Amino acid sequence: MTGSPNEPRPEIGSTEDDGSGISRKKLLKAAMVALPAPLLLGATAPMALAGDSTSTDGTANLTSTPQCDDGDDPTPPQMEGPYFKPNSPQRSSMVDGPGTALTLSGYVFGLGCQPISGVLLDFWQADNAGAYDNIGYRFRGHQFTNASGAYQLTAIVPGLYPGRTRHIHVKVQAPGRPILTTQLYFPGEPRNNTDPLFNPALLMTVRNVGTGREASFDFVLNIPQDPGPTPTATTPPPSGTWAAGTAYQVGDQVDYNGVSYRCRIAHTATPGWEPPNAPALWQTV
Ligand SMILES: [Fe+2]
Repeated sequence: MTGSPNEPRPEIGSTEDDGSGISRKKLLKAAMVALPAPLLLGATAPMALAGDSTSTDGTANLTSTPQCDDGDDPTPPQMEGPYFKPNSPQRSSMVDGPGTALTLSGYVFGLGCQPISGVLLDFWQADNAGAYDNIGYRFRGHQFTNASGAYQLTAIVPGLYPGRTRHIHVKVQAPGRPILTTQLYFPGEPRNNTDPLFNPALLMTVRNVGTGREASFDFVLNIPQDPGPTPTATTPPPSGTWAAGTAYQVGDQVDYNGVSYRCRIAHTATPGWEPPNAPALWQTV
């Protein structure tokens, strides 16, 4: 492949002006900004959406991530790779070693650009030296989108390891839906041009803030959404020992409508994440 490290990336659906006037995402963004502060993550609200090209230093020519708009494609999947481990801790901060501070935030949408709450995001990445922790859970963690469909991860910029460009792994699953396994990439990385797995549709928007980096990426799951309420999992009338509000640990066993399940990831049970709807959390025994 050709191209210099600083070569501008092709625009993957500009979010600034798509020629069609006000997009649904812009309307959503305006609505989200208008939400009460407690519904927004962190202290930096309003959160930057992927595709925002504003820069604090005015020097970055940022690349848009796929725009969530009517008819847009869902976030493409990528290979899991050899280093995924189940049972990651539930946490939104996984700063487990030295490195350049990285804050990644965004939303999870369905095909109708409606944000989805309660979506499981399980991140894993290399440390500053490009090594994965395959013994413990350094730089591994999962979380759920909040009521606004937003997530925020505090980590470090992952190091490089042979044969790959810089990337972050993630599994994304809405309640009762298939798991999306994919990887996120950094713009301007020299190895983006030579890594056969690299996909520009998975570029985060990244800007320098102080000595750290602030990144954003919005996921679009392959979930049909008509104008109306966000889809929720099909929930049969429950019977058995599973109960919302219970803090389950790895290995805990429950019965749900006559089927036994074993907990795969420690979590607090919530409606929508009943065992039949949550294969990432519950394994059939
Ligand atoms: Fe990797």
